[in-house]
Formats: sequence, structure tokens, C-alpha cells
Amino acid sequence: MYINRFSRTKASRKNAKIIFLLIVLIPASALLIWWLRDSNQSNSIQSSPTQSGQKKTADKTKEKLFNKNLYSVNDPTSLWAVVNKGRVLPNDYVPAGLRQPSGGDSNQSLRNDAATALEKLFNDALPSGYDLVLYSGYRSYSLQVGVYNGFVKSQGQQMAEKFSARPGHSEHQTGLAADVSSITGKCTLEQCFAYTSEGKWLAANAYKYGFIIRYQSGRQNLTGYEYEPWHLRYVGTELAAEINRTDQTLEQFFELPTYKLDAPYPDNSYQLRTGL
Ligand code: DAL
Ligand code: ZN
Repeated sequence: MYINRFSRTKASRKNAKIIFLLIVLIPASALLIWWLRDSNQSNSIQSSPTQSGQKKTADKTKEKLFNKNLYSVNDPTSLWAVVNKGRVLPNDYVPAGLRQPSGGDSNQSLRNDAATALEKLFNDALPSGYDLVLYSGYRSYSLQVGVYNGFVKSQGQQMAEKFSARPGHSEHQTGLAADVSSITGKCTLEQCFAYTSEGKWLAANAYKYGFIIRYQSGRQNLTGYEYEPWHLRYVGTELAAEINRTDQTLEQFFELPTYKLDAPYPDNSYQLRTGL
């Protein structure tokens, strides 16, 4: 009897445990699992705006850290000299240290720093099968007189000024501009160069060597010129990377006046001068 009572008590304890498990512990565990999953989900939903916010802050910090006053934009000898339809070089300005870049089979010259960078770019393009050449580098004031007048004569002034700078207004006179083409001659100085493998490689990689595509597509009313996928401008690797990252024109980056493609030249240009 005692044993029976005892075993009955034991049995009922066991039953009580099972009931407790069923009624309390299982729903409680389910509730806990649901709560944990829910809080994880809301954390992951929140993480994307947080991450994009962090990226924006990092970009802003980078922008603040970049010293836009490191070099002058007003001195013709400066790596960052800005020459355009409203900013003119002295007629007699000739950059120091002009030399022909090695390789590329060209009689064109550039300033030494730009030539060194272009040699590196040409060398690095070769393994991919892209043989690039310097089609036009430094152009003196008097050479630009001939180039510009030739286009005005053949196409009329209004048309010519969409792609050819007036003498003194061409950054080729700084020795820092390079018109690059493929040795194949395909699309040389034509916009279709952008669609060639060489043009695509150049657009993707030029900034790594310190060059920017100066006259960009879709920005004709900011640069004042037609798209020139072949015209590189050497500004050094730091600025080229920053302009590439922020996706701006040189004028936008330095908050300088911009020029529409069809707008006439301003009556008074800003005169760049050594020492400014
Ligand atoms: N083609 C560019 C704008 C120049 O003449 O310098
Ligand atoms: Zn050019």
C-alpha cells in the first residue's frame, strides 16, 4: 500500500512535471526564440542605414582631410593650374623640364613629372595588349595659334570653339595635357575612342597614374568643351584619386566658374601668373 501510494505520488509528480513543461516551459522557450529572432532581424534592418551613414561620414572626413590649397590653381607652373575659357596663360609661358616620354613612339613632349607618369601608364597597359601613344602633348602658344586658326577656317569659329581652345586658353601649353591614342589608330581623337578597349582601360585606370579625363561626357556645359575621352590632364595621384572619387570636373572641385559649350568667352579672362 505504502509502495503503491509512494509510486502513485511519484507518478503524479512526473505528470505534473510534464504538464509544467507543456504549459510553461515550451511556450516560454518558443517566445524566447521568437523574441531573439525578431531583435536580430531589426538589428540587421538597422545596419544598412547605419553603414551608409558611416560611409557618408568617412567620405566627408576624406573631403575635409584633402587640402585643396596644397598647390595653386593660379600659377601656370603649378600641378593644379586651372586653364579654361575664362582663365588664360601668359603668351610667353613655356614650362620647364619638357621631355619626350620614352616608349609610345612619339616626338611629343610633356613636363617631366607628367612624362614619367605617362610612361608608367603606357607600360602597365601593355600586358593587357593596349599599346598607347602620346598623340599630342605640349603645345606652345604659337602652335595653338595655328591649330585654333586652322579649325576656325575649316569649321567656322562657333563650331571650332566647342573643341579647340583659343591660344593661351589651352592646357596643352602647361605641358601637363596629353592626347592619347591607340597605336592601331582606331578612333584617334574621336569620341568613339571611349568605346575601344584602350579607351575603356584609360577611363578606368588613368587616375591611378595621376591623370584625369579633363573633358567628360555629359559635362560639356561645365567644361565648355565637347567630350574628349583621349585628353588626359596630369594633376598628380592624390588629386586625380579625389576627383575620381567625388566624380567632378576640375572647375567643380575647386569651385571655379564653369563655361557652357556654346557660351562666348568672357570679356575679361583671369590671367594666370607665376608666383600667384
Ligand atoms: N582640345 C582642347 C580643348 C584644347 O584645344 O586644348
Ligand atoms: Zn588635348
